[in-house]
Amino acid sequence: MSPLTVMNACGPARPVEADLVVTGAGELLTCPADGKGIGLVVGGAVAAKDGRVVWVGPSKQVQRRVSLADGAAVVDAGGRVVMPGLVECHTHLIFAGDRSAEFQARVAGASYQEVALAGGGIASTVRATRAATDEELRSLALGRLTRLLSLGVTTVEAKSGYGLSPEQELRILELYAQLAALHPVDVIPTLLAAHALPDAYRGRPEVFVDLVTTEMIPAVAARGVARFCDVFCEKGAFTADQCRSVLAAGAQYGLKPKLHADQLSEGGGAALAVEMGAVSADHLDYVSDLGIAALAGSGVTAVLLPGAAFFLGTDQLAPARRLLDSGVRVALSTDLNPGSSPTENLWLMATMGCCALHMTAAEVIRAITCEAARALALEKEVGSLEVGKKADILILESRKHTEIPYHYGINPVEQVFKAGRCVSVRGKETEVRPCA
Ligand code: NIG
Ligand code: FE
Repeated sequence: MSPLTVMNACGPARPVEADLVVTGAGELLTCPADGKGIGLVVGGAVAAKDGRVVWVGPSKQVQRRVSLADGAAVVDAGGRVVMPGLVECHTHLIFAGDRSAEFQARVAGASYQEVALAGGGIASTVRATRAATDEELRSLALGRLTRLLSLGVTTVEAKSGYGLSPEQELRILELYAQLAALHPVDVIPTLLAAHALPDAYRGRPEVFVDLVTTEMIPAVAARGVARFCDVFCEKGAFTADQCRSVLAAGAQYGLKPKLHADQLSEGGGAALAVEMGAVSADHLDYVSDLGIAALAGSGVTAVLLPGAAFFLGTDQLAPARRLLDSGVRVALSTDLNPGSSPTENLWLMATMGCCALHMTAAEVIRAITCEAARALALEKEVGSLEVGKKADILILESRKHTEIPYHYGINPVEQVFKAGRCVSVRGKETEVRPCA
């Protein structure tokens, strides 16, 4: 009897029933949420039933350990890497307009803050987003979701923040609820009302903060359309005290805190994240030694967004190594947004994690799967191929995990399964259909 055979009182365990089996992986990466490393099973297989993982083990044990339900699909990964669907834990998914002219101004030497002061930046996206119809915003976001899915993303966090009025912020969050119903990718909504001070409140930030805390947060909570409350803690955006008020009000209404922290300057964002018991502190390019010490052992996940630093052309990079070496859990994300990071490609962030942040292949793979899930408090549901979790499964073109950050700028995804159903093959089909 193999040492992996589980005994029960009557002998070897009965085979577990499955409606999907992905077998023949060269490397199966389970990405264990509570462990370390990528949980590599050479020659592995994964079985699922009703959208959940029911068994993981060596392919040679499948016949003995798994029984097939009627109509079950068995997919041979042909020696490729099989891993969890990616978790994209920080995006600004709904926005209209484009800022390619602003990009060219920055390429010519203008800074992100200078562009913003000249009326561009977040404010220009707010104008374009407010002017767009629901139909336009839905179709723009659906296009982005489809691109994300073809790149292997099966769960995406999506922030509001380009509405900045009670009606407009609510409109964006309601659209996220519609998108979640229309598209196979799970959409996790976040209220980011304190993203920028609207022009109408110039010189009166406390009045806007009051509007956020007393009107927007209660309205959003009453509609049940957000899970998290985020703030932009930065010079020119909101002070740590203002962010504290917003996050505290959000928490009172059941919205867990998240922060854009220490992105363009050190502003005490990391310490505030710890103080508020945030699920994540995001960016951290300028985090101080004290901030790192506060994050260590706090349970706050650091979400690093190297694409934003790259696209803004800043030399200041988040101290990923020091964070990891202090025991902080580190996730990576694109920050998908029109100003600082217009990309859906999380694989590229994995490569930047290695090249710019000196993370290992194993660390970046965890950072876009199980650690990203933890940054959304979803580590018990997604981001790992473990029994009981969602059967969000990728078959890659790559044959070993070290190729993932190495062969960069491409889409390595062959096939995507969302909750046990094949939803994308080589980026072509995106509608839910039975597995081949
Ligand atoms: O995460 N920092 C704030 N928000 C975005 C940028 C938004 C924009 O420029 O439109 C970010 O980088
Ligand atoms: Fe962001």
